[in-house]
Amino acid sequence: MKRVTIRVPATTANLGPGFDAFGCALSLYTDVTFEETDAGLEITGCPEEFAGPDNLAYVSYCAALATMSEELRGVKIHIDAQIPVCRGLGSSAALLVAGAMGANVLRGNKLSTQGLLNITNAMEGHPDNLAPAFYGGLTASMVDNGLPVTVSFPLHPDWDFLALVPDFDLPTSKARAVLPEQVNRADAIYNISHGAMVLKALELGDEKLLRTAMQDRLHQNYRKTLITDYEKIEGLIRTTGAAFCLSGAGPTLLCITQDHKLEEKLAKKLDAITEANWQMIPLHIEFQGARVIASE
Ligand code: HSE
Repeated sequence: MKRVTIRVPATTANLGPGFDAFGCALSLYTDVTFEETDAGLEITGCPEEFAGPDNLAYVSYCAALATMSEELRGVKIHIDAQIPVCRGLGSSAALLVAGAMGANVLRGNKLSTQGLLNITNAMEGHPDNLAPAFYGGLTASMVDNGLPVTVSFPLHPDWDFLALVPDFDLPTSKARAVLPEQVNRADAIYNISHGAMVLKALELGDEKLLRTAMQDRLHQNYRKTLITDYEKIEGLIRTTGAAFCLSGAGPTLLCITQDHKLEEKLAKKLDAITEANWQMIPLHIEFQGARVIASE
C-alpha cells in the first residue's frame, strides 16, 4: 500500500489590516502521513476527540478524492503537529492542505495546486492561511466568483517574526462571532490604505513604515476583549519599535522586526506584566509551501 508524508508550514493571516486576504508562511510545521489501506479509518498523533471522520485532514482527503472521482478506500493518518492548535497560526489550514495534497499525491497528482486551493478554500471559507501554506512566503488572496485567486509578494529577507503564544486557545468561530456584520466607510478606507503599505513595507524591509501600516480597524479592536493581556503586551511591543498585530484570529500576538535581540528584551518584561503564561517562539519566513517529505 502507498504511503506519503506531507509537511505544511504554519501561517499567520491578516498581518493587521489584510483581514481574510494577507498571509505569510512561517518556520513551524505540521507533518501528516497518509497510508492507504483496504478499508477503515485510523488516525493517530492527535487527541482522541479529533481522531474520527471529522478530522480536517481526513475531510479534506475525502474532498480531494471526490473531486478527482477517485474511490475512497481505507486510510491510516498520522499527525505530527508542531503548530499549536487553535492559536492563530494556521493549524486547521495545515490539516486541510495536508489532506488534499496527500490524496492528490497518492492518486497520481491529477489536481494542480490551484485545484487543491479551491477545494480547501470551500471548506475553510477564506484563503488567507491556505494560500501561504500551499505556496510559502507572503501572499495576498481574493475570492472572485467563489474561487480564490492568490498572488505572491516579495519579502525582505531580514525580517524576524516573534510569536507570543498564550496557554489558552481561541476558536476562530468565536473570534469571528464578535465581529460586526457591517463596517463603516472610514474603517474600510483605513484598512485598504494601510494594507497596501504593509505589503510594500514588508518588501522594502522598512520597519518604521510597517509599524505604522500594520494597524487595523476591522477585527483587532473587537477581538482584543477575548485575549487576556492584549493591551498590556501591545503597549510593551510598541515601546520596542517592532511592528505588532494579532496573528490570524488570535490569540497569538505577533511581532515583526529586524531587531534580533527583541526576544531577549521582552523576556525580562513579559512575565512581569501578564496574567496568562505566554511562550515566545522565534520564527522566520518559510519561503517554501507544503511539500512531500517522504513517500513509498
Ligand atoms: N482571516 C481569518 C480571521 C484567519 O481573522 O478570522 C483565521 O482563520
